[in-house]
Amino acid sequence: MKKKKLKIAPSMMCVDFLNIKETLDIFIKEKVDYLHIDIMDGHYVPNFTLGIDFCRALSSYTDIPLDIHLMIENPEQYVPQFAQFKNAIVSFHPETSYHPLRTIQLIKSYSAKAGIALEPSMPIQNVEYLLHDIDMVSIMTVNPGYSGQKLVPQTIEKIRKTSEYIFKNGCHFEIEVDGNVSWENLPLMLEAGSEVFVAGTSSIFEENGDLSANIRRFRSILT
Ligand code: DX5
Ligand code: ZN
Repeated sequence: MKKKKLKIAPSMMCVDFLNIKETLDIFIKEKVDYLHIDIMDGHYVPNFTLGIDFCRALSSYTDIPLDIHLMIENPEQYVPQFAQFKNAIVSFHPETSYHPLRTIQLIKSYSAKAGIALEPSMPIQNVEYLLHDIDMVSIMTVNPGYSGQKLVPQTIEKIRKTSEYIFKNGCHFEIEVDGNVSWENLPLMLEAGSEVFVAGTSSIFEENGDLSANIRRFRSILT
């Protein structure tokens, strides 16, 4: 099986909102692979973050694909708005949709890539019959809803199990890790089989850090 490219997806809820343009210019220069966009509704998770207009502004400024993480109830209702962006990946939590396969098909009907996000207690087996229809599994390594949280250790084993499943069943989806992808946790997640890394407050956006230098450091760990 061809080795997939290892990718960096900065978490846009962690940016300095007063300096977004400057930050985007750094992401373009450093050739990050995706922009990770956390969408929250105050119901599925007790928090609010980014929205559709933010996605529109980003996609008008850069071609970097938007990796849209829907932490909302009834995701199918909002797919038309989020799946419209060029090369977008739209992921949702399967327990928030009555018919997850229909929601995946809806996302794909807009020529977007479809993903599912698994919160820490959700085993990969629960979505076995979706795995041949999706482009990404986002394994949440923290509880959904906030940045700056600590790793849920048992999720590393879930990464390994998911990677083995791909190998045994010839699936093609990417494995993303989301939450506390820190300098310490990164090698563990890499070794377990992760391919897309949501970079947040515990790596590239660490306090007083140099964003460009941190992205290069992150990339050097992946290569
Ligand atoms: C949490 C979000 C993550 C978060 C990551 O619900 O899905 O993308 O922004 O932030 P860190 O890396 O600080 O855990
Ligand atoms: Zn996320």
